[in-house]
Amino acid sequence: MRQSITLLVLGAFASVATASGNADKGAEKAKQVCAACHGADGNKPLQPEYPRIAGQHEDYLYKTLRDYQSGARKDAIMGSQAANLSRQEMQDLAAYFSRQNGSLGVKR
Ligand code: HEC
Repeated sequence: MRQSITLLVLGAFASVATASGNADKGAEKAKQVCAACHGADGNKPLQPEYPRIAGQHEDYLYKTLRDYQSGARKDAIMGSQAANLSRQEMQDLAAYFSRQNGSLGVKR
């Protein structure tokens, strides 16, 4: 019994670890796709109407991409950008952009 509880706990940690994004993979995708509007590191949007996303919180970025995909947040441009992203790709992108320096976020 005790052993199975230990395995359960270990299993829970393992799934948390695999659920997080890989910033290196996110960087590749970001440079291929997102850079066209948000700038390579999410800091230099090409148009004023494209938001800066560098340094935004990782969970916010991930949730936002999910919401664009599901239609919970509606935007014609980002809806089509998010349409074909897998969950893993969204996590990778969120990991990458949240690690870029930017002036977004709470000052500490
Ligand atoms: C064709 C231009 C374009 C491309 C390419 C693009 N975006 Fe966007 N993005 C936008 C626009 C415009 C908005 C603002 C939409 C809105 O008002 O909801 C936006 C908004 C966002 C937001 C919400 C920011 C916030 O502060 O809430 C995130 C996150 C985001 N984009 C991530 C990405 C990622 C990741 C990619 C690459 C997969 C990407 N975008 C590719 C134009 C683009």
